Amino acid sequence: MLSETDNQRLTGVGRGTPMGDLLRRYWMPLAAVAELDDRPTKRVRLMSEDLVLYKDTSGGYGLLDAHCPHRRADMSYGIPDACGLRCSYHGWLFDRGGNCIEQPFEDVAALESPFKNKVKTKAYPVQAKAGLLWAYLGPSPAPELWDWDIYHANAYKQIIYYEVPCNWLQCQENSIDPIHFEWLHLNWSATQRGSTAASRRHVKLDFKEFEFGFTYHRLLENAPEDDALWTIGRVCLWPNCLFTAGFAWHVPVDDENTLTISFVIDDLPKTRPCVQPRVPYWYAPVLDARTGKLRTDTFGNQDVVAWVGQGRICDRTREHLGQSDRGILMLRRRLMQDLDNVAAGADPKGIVRDPARNHRIPLPRVQQKVVFGAAGPIGAFRPMPGQPQEIIDEMARLWAP
Ligand code: FES
Ligand SMILES: [Fe+2]
Repeated sequence: MLSETDNQRLTGVGRGTPMGDLLRRYWMPLAAVAELDDRPTKRVRLMSEDLVLYKDTSGGYGLLDAHCPHRRADMSYGIPDACGLRCSYHGWLFDRGGNCIEQPFEDVAALESPFKNKVKTKAYPVQAKAGLLWAYLGPSPAPELWDWDIYHANAYKQIIYYEVPCNWLQCQENSIDPIHFEWLHLNWSATQRGSTAASRRHVKLDFKEFEFGFTYHRLLENAPEDDALWTIGRVCLWPNCLFTAGFAWHVPVDDENTLTISFVIDDLPKTRPCVQPRVPYWYAPVLDARTGKLRTDTFGNQDVVAWVGQGRICDRTREHLGQSDRGILMLRRRLMQDLDNVAAGADPKGIVRDPARNHRIPLPRVQQKVVFGAAGPIGAFRPMPGQPQEIIDEMARLWAP
């Protein structure tokens, strides 16, 4: 249970709030590289800031205020230029640093005192990595954008967006909640199928902190103590990600909305090299179009049901935490400590500033065996609702016997 003040401290993401300032110390994924190849601008809202992400005609990326500083037109309808984005209303051009570098009419009318030198719009740096575009909204200098070893694996990758109408922290607390898997995913799925078969129960849990987050460890009944889920565990990755076999970043849109970006990584044997010129992306349908209610049919959608059910911002003054929630308490305590660290001017947890160190950083990972089309163990690949046919076809080709 938390006090109302602490709940606000942990959940508010706007600029100038304690958590908003902490989260701004990290690069945040925003979109798939492939998405900007398909359409060169994307309107985004990140930590309560309305922005437009764009790709210019030289292949560079930028992130600007969503509204033009001239007369507030929507820059997501802008025209990409060789070195920036031009507003489609009166043609003002802004570079990646937010400087106004052209005002077509003013440049003719007022050559003497260039008005454009006085105009600047909000701008943030963007980097491409692992098929994703990442933004940094914090103070300079920006830290390294983590280069996780698994990005370089011989694997089929895809990016799935979930638009989740609740605060980011309830999504991230789920990243250190092993018991929910037994109930929310296994037992509830069985019930939905009309089965009464119960999943194997958890008999032991453990949680450990490491440089880049926490690991959680589960021992299921009848599992040996050398089971990888007990010895290696799963990763609650700092500050807003779950890393299992792939990643799920819970990117705060604002206090009451989150964009979960799931980066699915399915390993292939070395004998089957997988070269992806672009990592495909798609939006998971979170709502059932027929009933208007949340879908309950995939693990991803079941997670969304749990998070959204806790309310737009979970009222943590009314919880009753037990032994299964030890990891959640560790996570909150560590976040609180980082709020103090940032307020005192120090770097928060996990920041890497040495480029030499930021090379293929390993993370604990339990490998999953992927079998196309099998109705078997967890990790078996089955087409998901909303998954584009081209991805299903490509996976079928890659995993063909
Ligand atoms: S509103 Fe953008 S150039 Fe006028
Ligand atoms: Fe889950």
